[in-house]
Amino acid sequence: MKRILITGAAGFIGFHLALHLHKRGDFVIGLDHFNTYYDPSLKYQRQQVLQKLPVHIAHMDIRDRNHVKELIAKYEITHVVHLAAQAGVRHSISEPDDYVASNLQGFVSILEACRAFPKTKLIYASSSSVYGLNKKTPFAVEDKTDQPANLYGATKKANEVMAHAYHHLYGLSVTALRYFTVYGPWGRPDMAYYRFTRQICANEPIDVFNHGLMKRDFTYIDDIVNGTMAAIDLGAPCEIFNLGNHCPISLTYLIQLLEKGLQKKAICNMLPMQPGEVTETYADIEKSQKLLGFRPIVSLEEGILKFLEWYRSYHKISPLQLEIGPRESID
Ligand SMILES: NC(=O)c1ccc[n+]([C@@H]2O[C@H](COP(=O)([O-])OP(=O)(O)OC[C@H]3O[C@@H](n4cnc5c(N)ncnc54)[C@H](O)[C@@H]3O)[C@@H](O)[C@H]2O)c1
Repeated sequence: MKRILITGAAGFIGFHLALHLHKRGDFVIGLDHFNTYYDPSLKYQRQQVLQKLPVHIAHMDIRDRNHVKELIAKYEITHVVHLAAQAGVRHSISEPDDYVASNLQGFVSILEACRAFPKTKLIYASSSSVYGLNKKTPFAVEDKTDQPANLYGATKKANEVMAHAYHHLYGLSVTALRYFTVYGPWGRPDMAYYRFTRQICANEPIDVFNHGLMKRDFTYIDDIVNGTMAAIDLGAPCEIFNLGNHCPISLTYLIQLLEKGLQKKAICNMLPMQPGEVTETYADIEKSQKLLGFRPIVSLEEGILKFLEWYRSYHKISPLQLEIGPRESID
C-alpha cells in the first residue's frame, strides 16, 4: 500500500486523484489553502465528498515548509503528488505575484520538504504551457521548451529545471506530468468549457478569442488520473511525461458540442487572439504510452456529456436534453 500526500487536493485534479487512489486502496491525505482564484465553495464541496471516505485535507499553504514536513513524517508518506499551484494563463498577466508565491516559492518548499525524506518520491504537475511558442506539433517531451508565452508557462518550466537540480544534487525521485487542458465533472469554473456553459445557460454572450480558431488537446479527467496513477506506480528517478488526448479540437467545435448538449444557441462575441495565448496544443504521447501504458479513451463528445450531466445536477439546473449527436466536421 502506498501512502500518498496530494497537495492541492481540494482542486479539480487533486480531488479526482484522491477519490481514485483511495478507491484502489492507497492511504491518501491532502493539503490545500483553499484560495479564492475561483469560488472556494466548490473546493469545500469537494472536501466534503472526500471527508466522507474518509480522506482528510489539511488547511495549509505549501510555503509552510515545516508543516509539510510534519505531514510527511506523521503519515509516513511514500509519495508526494504535488498539484497545488496558481493555474490559469490570463490571471498570470494581471496577478504575476500569485505565480511567484505558489509556483516558485511553493515549489521550492515542496522540494525542500521532500529532500528531508529522501525515500519519498515526488510526482508533480507541469503543463502543456511549457511548449509556449513552439510551432512543431505534436509537442514531444524532447522538444525545446525555452520560449514560454506567459508567466504561468515560465513557472512550470522553472519547476522542471528545479526538480532536475534536486534529483542531481540529492537523488530525489522526480516525475513531471505535463497536463493538457483537463476537463470534466467538478472542473474549474475559470476554464472555457465551464465558463461557456454557465454563460450559455444564462443567455450571456461568450467571448470567443482568435475567432474560435484556437485548438486545444482537451483531456478527460479520468484519463489524466489514470496517467498520474501510472506515474506514481512507476516512481521513475527523473522523467517528464505528456498527458494529453493526442487529438486537438477547435474552440468552435467545443462550442457546437455545448450548444447541442444544452439545446441552446451560444451568443458569440468573436474577438482577436489574447496576449499570452497560443494557437494550438497537441500532445505527443508515445513516451507516456510506452512507459506508463497511458491510453486516453474518453472522446470530447463523451466527456462533455459527462460534464454537462454533472453541471446540471451540481447547479440544480432544470432538466436538459443532453443528447449529443455524431461529431461534425469542422476542419
Ligand atoms: N486543469 C488543467 O487543465 C491543467 C493543465 C495543465 C496543468 N495543470 C496543473 O495541474 C495542477 C492542478 O490543477 P487544477 O486544474 O486541479 O487546479 P485547481 O486550481 O483546481 O487546483 C489547485 C489547488 O491548489 C491550491 N493551492 C494553490 N496554491 C496553493 C498554496 N500556495 N498552498 C496550498 N494550496 C494551494 C488551490 O487552492 C487549489 O485548490 C496545477 O498545478 C495546474 O497548474 C492543470
